[in-house]
Amino acid sequence: MAAKTKKPTFYITTPIYYASGALHIGHCYTTVACDAIARFKRMDGFDVYYLTGTDEHGQKVQQAAEQKGMTPQAFVDGLAERIQKLWQRMDISNDGFIRTTDKAHEKAIADIFTKLYEKGDIYKSEYSGKYCAPCESFWTSSQLVDGKCPDCGREVQDTKEECYFFRLSKYADRVRKLLTETDFLQPDSRVREMVNNFIDKGLTDLAVTRTSFDWGIKVPFDPKHVIYVWIDALPNYITALGYGADGEKYKKYWPCDLHVMAKEIVRFHAIVWPAILMALDLPLPKRVYGHGWIMFGGDKMSKSKGNVVDPFILTDRYGVDALRYYLLSSMPFGDDSNYTSELLLSAINNDLVNDLGNLVRRTLAMSKQYFDGEVVKPQADERDAEYKSAIDALAEKVRADMDKPELNKALEKIFDVIGRSNKYIDANKPWELKKTGDTVRLNAVIYNLLEGIRVCANMLLPFLTKYPTRIFDGLGIAEPNDFKAAKYGAVKQFKTTEIEPILNRLDIKKELAELEAIANQAEEKEQTKAEEQELISIDDFFKSELRVVDIEACEKVEKAKKLLKLTVFDGERRRTIVSGIAMAYAPEELVGKKAALVANLKPAKLCGIVSEGMLLCSVGEDGIPRLVMPTGKAGDKIC
Ligand code: MSP
Repeated sequence: MAAKTKKPTFYITTPIYYASGALHIGHCYTTVACDAIARFKRMDGFDVYYLTGTDEHGQKVQQAAEQKGMTPQAFVDGLAERIQKLWQRMDISNDGFIRTTDKAHEKAIADIFTKLYEKGDIYKSEYSGKYCAPCESFWTSSQLVDGKCPDCGREVQDTKEECYFFRLSKYADRVRKLLTETDFLQPDSRVREMVNNFIDKGLTDLAVTRTSFDWGIKVPFDPKHVIYVWIDALPNYITALGYGADGEKYKKYWPCDLHVMAKEIVRFHAIVWPAILMALDLPLPKRVYGHGWIMFGGDKMSKSKGNVVDPFILTDRYGVDALRYYLLSSMPFGDDSNYTSELLLSAINNDLVNDLGNLVRRTLAMSKQYFDGEVVKPQADERDAEYKSAIDALAEKVRADMDKPELNKALEKIFDVIGRSNKYIDANKPWELKKTGDTVRLNAVIYNLLEGIRVCANMLLPFLTKYPTRIFDGLGIAEPNDFKAAKYGAVKQFKTTEIEPILNRLDIKKELAELEAIANQAEEKEQTKAEEQELISIDDFFKSELRVVDIEACEKVEKAKKLLKLTVFDGERRRTIVSGIAMAYAPEELVGKKAALVANLKPAKLCGIVSEGMLLCSVGEDGIPRLVMPTGKAGDKIC
């Protein structure tokens, strides 16, 4: 017996998205595009591994969690679940989902860090730059706006912080060669951006740890340092396959065939990631593709109006196929393009309802009406040669576009055959053949149309997840798993039935008004929520138990620049309090002073210390909190 030939592998990835807020259709764009490629490759005979996931560590996530009064872990757990729900909704066929808080990932990152350190490619030094205390952010001089923090506009201070660096400069020549002498990075415009903006300017070593926050993977041999996002995030592409843990998947699928992301993070994928792999002596990915951005109409769209582009709302109203089709067809893959509701609605009406929907509806209706759905393969006829060859050529053309990948062009080719099919109906006028009784020709015309529809539906399977399946039901044949039958004449006989359209023609004006109403409702809801949050009742106020306390001892918190650890006496007992007041006081100044304590707060852990309450502060224009110091004796009620 001949040995079964092993399928070639194909490994494709999206970026891992930050678990700091809800995802929008921009994130859907990358994920749906990779999904279409993954589905195409599976149907084309490849053993595909499609990976996506979430980037869950870092200061921003920690801050977002704090704002919601949650622990970072509970916060990212909720978001990771919501993100996975979104991918289920979008019919994403990912094989793996990695979270950077997965224990296996955390261990692998700590090992990678140690390995690079032992090799000398990571070293400890000092980061010097500008520091914005309220934002806890470091900036270089060139990042400042008018000499001030680009985020909050406040004064910055010169600072030095001990941190670890990755020796990126050592790999500059090899990375330059990779970008300029191979097809590693696409499209070409991205290569020019990388070379001109970064490589030609000289690659400097990259700071890869921080000590100003602690939500992240600790440096195993120096745990006051937290491994900074990119060194934690980029290796997800190998840790997800079990790299470092004897992963079978790693052996099978690495090196990656295609990393896809938008242009703003190409630098990390095309420069930093290959350099890390070079330092680890691992094979490099075969291709990195940096696509363009979906823009949301410049500054016209307010943040809350962003709700109209909430993928859950759009798919509730128009279905998954509509949103997938719009995302994949509307923009040239490498370029930016603007999102507007009008463009989405016109794509639905013009392409899905008019062109495809009408073709399917008319053809199945004629098949039913003229032949009770039974249509057989006819003799070849010269008159149909052009239409048939367009059908025959389709799979190859789509394959060529998918390989680039130019997904919108692949869809254009399919819709070109759909357009020709509609023209073929108009040119052959089946209703007249019926009138003149030319049943043989009538059968041939309907058969050819059914074949055109079948091959188009076959080629649409990677892009749309609902409509093609329904079309195969209508054609009365099993949905294919591959493209082997995507040729004219593969079916000998059809037994068709009529099907419900997947989408009906939309009244664009009405839809726009309704989308606008949804956006306004969302805006109002946000506002009411904010107002409700701002105003509290007297009962709410009296829920807080405020007391005068004596500060008996105070010391610095080693890992946190902004925190002090205090021992206070509340009239009954001593408590430990961690407070963000280190920018205003030296610890010894506070001993013997009085403070106002919120005494009935749930204890919270800050930098590993359990804080049993909170001290009231005033925050001035400089953003620095200073204690409210009441009179009275320890234990007095404040109201
Ligand atoms: N966590 C990092 C990536 C680490 S990968 C090792 C990150 N996350 S992100 O949540 O900000 O996602 C950025 C990516 O989301 C973009 O590169 C792109 O793939 C996708 N997009 C987000 N908004 C987009 C648009 N408006 N348009 C197109 N893609 C968009 O960066």
